Amino acid sequence: MDPKKSLQNHPLNAAAKKAIADIVASHKDERGPVIVMLHDIQEKLGYIPYEAMKAISDATGVSTAEVYGVVMFYAQFTTQPKGKHVINICLGTACYVKGGQKLIDQATEMTGCPLNGTSPDGMFSIDATRCIGACGLAPVATVDGNVIGDATNGNKLIKAIKMIQEDESKLAAAGASGDPSANA
Ligand code: FES
Repeated sequence: MDPKKSLQNHPLNAAAKKAIADIVASHKDERGPVIVMLHDIQEKLGYIPYEAMKAISDATGVSTAEVYGVVMFYAQFTTQPKGKHVINICLGTACYVKGGQKLIDQATEMTGCPLNGTSPDGMFSIDATRCIGACGLAPVATVDGNVIGDATNGNKLIKAIKMIQEDESKLAAAGASGDPSANA
């Protein structure tokens, strides 16, 4: 697959371009810099745009096709922008047996976000993950990096999503009314 054709649908703003340029410049003299650059760009932007692969290729001499291959190989990298809030739900064996699928059903229904996708309003992404090594807490989800164990008990995941939705509506209302106290 030609990465340029499939990945250039997301125009980058100036801040994202600068972030990519800074990250590439800071690692270009290291050994094996491709993974490190990709890791930093994923962390900074939440995904790896085509422009980043091109910049890495230009700086390292590794072809864009090879950089793309690395991105595709590692599950930690994604070529699609993530939502503002990222929900990961473990579907490893222990979590699956204890209700992981139920968590997915609840989260997708509440957010309108498809599994392994992003909601149309860009607010949420939901991904199914493999075991994250917390099987004793199954079923496990993470919301914006915070681990929620035993997540069906007391509807913990539902409550976490509801809290985000409430906070986001307050922020939106504050933005519409210009009331800065709603951001406090
Ligand atoms: S199976 Fe979910 S944390 Fe291990």
